[in-house]
Amino acid sequence: MPDKNEDTPANEMQPEDTLELRALYKGFEEQHLIPLWTQLGDLMPIHPKPRAVPHIWKWAELLPLAEQSGELVPVGRGGERRAIGLANPGLGGHAYVSPTLWAAIQYLGPRETAPEHRHAQNAFRFVVEGEGVWTVVNGDPVRMSRGDLLLTPGWHFHGHHNDTDKPMAWIDGLDIPFAQQNDVGFFEFGSDRVTDYATPRVSRGERLWCHPGLRPLSGLSDTVSSPIGAYRWEHTDRALTEQLLLEEEGQPATVEQGHAAIRYVNPTTGGDVMSTIRCEFHRLRAGTQTPTRREVGSSVFQVFEGEGAVVIDGVRHKLNIGDLFVIPSWVRWSLQAETQFDLFCFSDAPIMERLNFARTHVEVGD
Ligand SMILES: [Fe+2]
Repeated sequence: MPDKNEDTPANEMQPEDTLELRALYKGFEEQHLIPLWTQLGDLMPIHPKPRAVPHIWKWAELLPLAEQSGELVPVGRGGERRAIGLANPGLGGHAYVSPTLWAAIQYLGPRETAPEHRHAQNAFRFVVEGEGVWTVVNGDPVRMSRGDLLLTPGWHFHGHHNDTDKPMAWIDGLDIPFAQQNDVGFFEFGSDRVTDYATPRVSRGERLWCHPGLRPLSGLSDTVSSPIGAYRWEHTDRALTEQLLLEEEGQPATVEQGHAAIRYVNPTTGGDVMSTIRCEFHRLRAGTQTPTRREVGSSVFQVFEGEGAVVIDGVRHKLNIGDLFVIPSWVRWSLQAETQFDLFCFSDAPIMERLNFARTHVEVGD
């Protein structure tokens, strides 16, 4: 049913087209001025009208292209990373998955090293398959394994090295578009090799911070970004499993019926892991469909396990393991689980909430 709020308001204040008016507009142009009355609908629409469009990238298409890049493109100083950005078709050829977020598949061949550097932009890695790479963050080697979320917050030195004879691919998420559009980025080269080739199972940051409910007294000052280098799959999986078991026992635990979810947090604040990016993991029971919702800000999902679909603006898209999709601001979406369905998700919600633009609408009776 058409909703009159869906439409841009008609501009009823249109001046008469006269020679004097045309001369006025020419004067505006010469002085680099643009009047509000000719463009109000574009500048301040009734609700967000994103240029970014919903889009799905199939892992089965991405991975072979990343492998091909591994054969043709060396990794090293200058290019820095063999990372292939997901370019939203609505954003004019930029490797922006949304106006704020970057998402890429990164590929590191056997025994390769991606040199160390640091930048103001916040970054994370999520591993949908494979193992054998360590990310060295400010000198702390962090193992990368399936289901792990790794953080490299802004201005932390980081490099990657593959300790095995097999290649590995994962996804990177950053706030590159936000930083670029607001001119806040800084970048600095570090060591051409990673500064520590040790391959410990557990990083120093995890040894200090990853004991449930316990905070070291040496770390009582809150930090903007989480001090945890890796959030391990075994903990994520256990947390989601327990939510669904508690639900079966009739206890309040899930976010909605059949929908378990966790947010990765900074243990010093209880807030998001980084200042610009929220990371979450969602698990749906087989047969669950989430209510249709829309939110201010953009989100990117990657299927980790199981089979299901996303319904975006009424169109159902079947999804397989590794598939990524972006939900731009204020676009309607819901998830459908055919089997138990696991999805990693990241968004720009910390920006929207901190600046008081956040808004969510859930359709009832859906
Ligand atoms: Fe980087």
